[in-house]
Amino acid sequence: MALDVAIAGGHGQIALRLGGLLAARGDRVRGLIRNPDHADDLRAAGVEPVVLDLEASDASALAAAVAGADAVVFAAGAGPGSGEARKSTMDRDGAVKLVEAAKANAIERYVIVSSRGADSSAQGDGFAAYLRAKGEADDAVRASGLAWTIVRPGALTNAPAGGRVRTDTGDGEIPRDDVAATLVAVLDTPATAGATFLLVAGETPIADAVARLAAS
Ligand SMILES: NC(=O)c1ccc[n+]([C@@H]2O[C@H](COP(=O)([O-])OP(=O)(O)OC[C@H]3O[C@@H](n4cnc5c(N)ncnc54)[C@H](OP(=O)(O)O)[C@@H]3O)[C@@H](O)[C@H]2O)c1
Repeated sequence: MALDVAIAGGHGQIALRLGGLLAARGDRVRGLIRNPDHADDLRAAGVEPVVLDLEASDASALAAAVAGADAVVFAAGAGPGSGEARKSTMDRDGAVKLVEAAKANAIERYVIVSSRGADSSAQGDGFAAYLRAKGEADDAVRASGLAWTIVRPGALTNAPAGGRVRTDTGDGEIPRDDVAATLVAVLDTPATAGATFLLVAGETPIADAVARLAAS
């Protein structure tokens, strides 16, 4: 059955890939973007653009934007050039706001693109502040009561898809194409609810890796 998926951060590099994969197989996909100039890129991928700034909007506006979805995916991020304040307002609070929006609509399924090393107890500025914000977001998602899955990629690349991953340990990289394909598999596998996993390039086909997560 076709899914209805709302992606926060819809013009992101992973998000556009994910949206394109879902739309190509017939799912309904909404992408939340803050820059209207990005709308045509979404449409070209088969994704409905919804203009909404995740930091400037309140939870009720976000709730209206995702109403009717079967699942929400948080794939937004302030980016490496951002200061500590936006790591809080975007990477942490944006994810928390999406939790509230999902709950307001009784949307059970919540998938978040987190990061390897995300840790709410990380100390320091810069990258530590990023890992802290991502860890705090993950903690809030875990405490949400939703059917969540937390995906923690290693360093992202634009290398061609390898199609094979590992989810247990490793400090390697992962092509964004493989992250997007893994997110599709996670959305297709409700039994991954409750799983938090690392994602780096490896030897296991994505479908098998996700099936193992569901079984464990
Ligand atoms: N880089 C890495 O190696 C790495 C590793 C592990 C995890 N991650 C995580 O993976 C995430 C996704 O990666 P990616 O490469 O797809 O990131 P990306 O291309 O930077 O996408 C992030 C998206 O978030 C959007 N965004 C930022 N602030 C927003 C706001 N206030 N409202 C709505 N949208 C907003 C951006 O839109 P604009 O274009 O309007 O700014 C952008 O489209 C990253 O954000 C990061 O948290 C990254």
